[in-house]
Amino acid sequence: MALRPSLLAAAALSFAGALATSPGTPEPLRYDRDVRAILSDRCFRCHGPDAGKRQAELRLDVAESATALRDGKWAIVPGDPEQSELLRRVSSTDEDVRMPPPKSGRRPLSDEERDIVRRWIAEGARKWNDANVLVMSLKRTDPDTARAIVDAWLAVEAPDEDERENIAKLR
Ligand code: HEC
Repeated sequence: MALRPSLLAAAALSFAGALATSPGTPEPLRYDRDVRAILSDRCFRCHGPDAGKRQAELRLDVAESATALRDGKWAIVPGDPEQSELLRRVSSTDEDVRMPPPKSGRRPLSDEERDIVRRWIAEGARKWNDANVLVMSLKRTDPDTARAIVDAWLAVEAPDEDERENIAKLR
């Protein structure tokens, strides 16, 4: 009888574990871990930090630019892949529309990569904003810890220069 509660606890834990890993409830995708590598390899050469090479004045490494309304379209509409011009461009078979442009020599996105981008947009196109908000709140009550988190973040994530700057501003 004395074993009962711990058995119950073990059962509850394994049930929770099964829920967490069940394919029905996958963990949300994250820009830094899941999406950045795809865009950085195929898109940043023309839509990234280098102003000299930037095309169509579009930056896909900066949320403000990627989600801005431009000529009646948004590259990314968080939560709405169908309205996102980015997805139309990477899915198109029209050589004049498709991104990356066929003549750039960059590989088109694979079906799997396209699914990742679609899911990430559908889930709200998370960048580092959520964590950003947490650190800002923590700064008010415990600035030393907030600063330590920002430093750890920079050390572990190794983001590109612009993102480093944005993250470092949180210190
Ligand atoms: C070799 C350079 C190059 C690469 C690489 C590239 N693009 Fe582009 N992109 C362009 C040019 C040039 C335009 C403007 C002409 C046009 O709209 O087709 C453009 C336009 C766009 C637009 C439309 C912008 C608007 O304001 O309507 C989107 C969205 C876009 N690109 C997304 C992407 C994505 C996503 C990738 C990577 C998968 C990518 N591009 C890779 C050169 C590039």
